[in-house]
Amino acid sequence: MKLGIGIIGCGGISPSHINIYSGFPEEVQIVAVCDIEKERAESRKQIVRDTYLKRVAEHQEQAEKAESQSDKDKYAKLVEECKNAAEIEVVTYTDYEELAQDERVNAVNICTPPFAHPPPMIAAANAGKHVFCEGPIAGDLKQADAMIAAARANQIKFTVQYGTRFSRGSRMAKYAIDEGKLGKILMGKVDVMWYRGQSYYDSGAWRGTWAGERGGATFHHGRYAIDLYLWLMGDVSEIYAQMDTFTHQIEVEDCSMSVLRYKHGALGQILASTSAHSGIAPSQRIEIFGEKAAISVIPNWGVGSSEQGYAEQLKQELEAAVPELPYGGMVGQMKDFIDAIREDREPYITGESVRPQVEVTRGIYKSAATGQPAKLPLKPYDPYYAG
Ligand SMILES: NC(=O)c1ccc[n+]([C@@H]2O[C@H](COP(=O)([O-])OP(=O)(O)OC[C@H]3O[C@@H](n4cnc5c(N)ncnc54)[C@H](O)[C@@H]3O)[C@@H](O)[C@H]2O)c1
Repeated sequence: MKLGIGIIGCGGISPSHINIYSGFPEEVQIVAVCDIEKERAESRKQIVRDTYLKRVAEHQEQAEKAESQSDKDKYAKLVEECKNAAEIEVVTYTDYEELAQDERVNAVNICTPPFAHPPPMIAAANAGKHVFCEGPIAGDLKQADAMIAAARANQIKFTVQYGTRFSRGSRMAKYAIDEGKLGKILMGKVDVMWYRGQSYYDSGAWRGTWAGERGGATFHHGRYAIDLYLWLMGDVSEIYAQMDTFTHQIEVEDCSMSVLRYKHGALGQILASTSAHSGIAPSQRIEIFGEKAAISVIPNWGVGSSEQGYAEQLKQELEAAVPELPYGGMVGQMKDFIDAIREDREPYITGESVRPQVEVTRGIYKSAATGQPAKLPLKPYDPYYAG
């Protein structure tokens, strides 16, 4: 049986979710959309239909060009599936509680702004629906923990969008570190040096505010690379940070620099900005240094070592151990979510595993505000745990 999908939040990112699901018409069917602004929900309903019809045209062309009968049959089947999907009535809602109660909906994608992730996620979980939530999970640890608890209590599959973990380079880095191939980890660094004009922040009332975006360059814009970096490096025990708002009329920071100490003893660094002009170095970088070797994770995968021959040997070993992924990025993560539901297993990225992105950023904000190192974990009575 196909999984019925509901989309909550019909703004900028929602067409990407619709497009990705339309690539798996034999497994899922979008049946409902919801936005507090009715016309947005109506427009996404139309986009659902248009997206399936675009797929029909693509698969028809693929069927015509296919050389083998089995490929012709495969594409002909996809044409039928997408035609049927385009014909199904997509219900529009303005109240996420109503969508959550819709019996045709098995899983929900939360595409609301960061401040509005927790209520629809928890409503969907309490209604027994699986949840794919846009990142960041939530603005603080209290909300993130409530979402994780709701997922566990209702035994639903819950994942948060970090498609960056769905690349072969990321998986090879994880394998290399977990298997000790780099030796003891000494240092790691992540740079997210982006440029955004004021018009970007002016494009939505929630952008650039503490209440709406729940943080700036570090929490919101840097989250993909920072999540990947933290996932690879492990638990942080202490943070010292400075931050500022240099070039934008916004409440939140557009620059932060942080020094970290990891539980396993390594030192780390996080740089995040939306005021950094581009053109002198890759905007996003993750580099990790161990006793035996160093790796570059993004933008380019690479291994280096001063030990004669070790880098080449390790590169070959990692390529042999970690296969190409069938689907990369957000497509890979949404396919994994579908498979996790079908196979009744954990998604590759759980709610628990994205929690450090919130905790470390809250620690950065605490240290920058107090001028003191912030120790992790942040306990529930800490002012930076909630709020
Ligand atoms: N736009 C992007 O390129 C992009 C990329 C990656 C991730 N994201 C993430 O996706 C999420 C949404 O971003 P966006 O750019 O689509 O935002 P957006 O402001 O364009 O759209 C959000 C939509 O949610 C609706 N909404 C707000 N509260 C709601 C509620 N309680 N119930 C139903 N609908 C509600 C709004 O009316 C709006 O239409 C954010 O977490 C963002 O970080 C966005």
